[in-house]
Amino acid sequence: MNKLYKLTLLLLISICAFSLTTSELHGDQIEKLTGWNFAKLARGGILYDNWVSELGVEIKKTHPSYPAEGKKKGAATWRCKECHGWDYKGEAGAYRKGSHHTGIVGIRAYANQDPDIIIKILLNKTHAYKNIVPEEELEAITFFVSYGQVDMDLYIDRSTNKSIGDNSNGGRIYLATCVKCHGADGKEINFKSADKPVYIGTASNKNPWETLHKIRWGHPGSQMISLLFLNLKEQLDVLSFCQSLPEK
Ligand code: HEC
Ligand code: HEC
Repeated sequence: MNKLYKLTLLLLISICAFSLTTSELHGDQIEKLTGWNFAKLARGGILYDNWVSELGVEIKKTHPSYPAEGKKKGAATWRCKECHGWDYKGEAGAYRKGSHHTGIVGIRAYANQDPDIIIKILLNKTHAYKNIVPEEELEAITFFVSYGQVDMDLYIDRSTNKSIGDNSNGGRIYLATCVKCHGADGKEINFKSADKPVYIGTASNKNPWETLHKIRWGHPGSQMISLLFLNLKEQLDVLSFCQSLPEK
């Protein structure tokens, strides 16, 4: 082998290795997080959804950075998801219109970023979490922002709301886990009211981004389990199965 050839080969190998590590960083990172670091990540996902209810905090006032033209008020406006969305894309995602619209950016740019940088954002004046959310809980949220979020547009079709998952494999998982609380048809728990029922079938078709978040992280302030120990493919399978359940 001549020198130039060897050098090119080496360069190619390192480019391949680099692109592999960046494209698979998400999955790799989660697998690398073991023990308490994994627990911290799992907690972060729950807190992103609703740290107020998970921590049992009482807040009456509206978040100072919640825009005046927004439609929500009080405790709800302190939830990360209220400003940044279930798809983590804020203005560029599902919250670009409707009753949750705020015009605020998403958090996608901070995926795979250093948690130490993210915590500075959460402690800044805009966020105003200092002395309100305990720092160790904020640290858990930074793990979620860095290692836990995914680009949902790769897996959920924006025009049909459908997950790309495999329904039948999802059924195997659902019928061995979720079934205990939600029932085989998903109608055991009604999330809304008797006259306007919302079941898993209803919720997962209307807001698949929220359901995927709940499948991965669980539901704050409840006994609901998290499927974070499964891979993303299997979590999407469960979402597909949920979307096949009755909506009424
Ligand atoms: C009341 C609305 C609101 C809430 C609640 C909120 N944020 Fe933000 N967030 C903002 C605004 C506004 C920005 C834009 C830039 C700035 O001024 O910091 C932002 C920016 C960010 C960014 C940087 C995004 C970028 O690309 O620059 C991250 C990361 C972030 N927020 C994470 C969170 C997390 C995690 C939570 C929950 C613990 C949260 N935010 C709760 C309003 C909010
Ligand atoms: C141990 C019981 C339990 C298990 C197991 C469980 N859940 Fe839940 N789930 C709950 C409870 C309790 C709530 C909150 C109900 C409420 O707010 O009315 C909930 C809420 C939800 C929500 C939120 C709906 C909304 O709009 O707020 C979704 C979606 C959901 N579960 C899906 C699932 C899926 C999918 C599985 C299986 C991976 C699962 N759950 C497993 C108990 C459970």
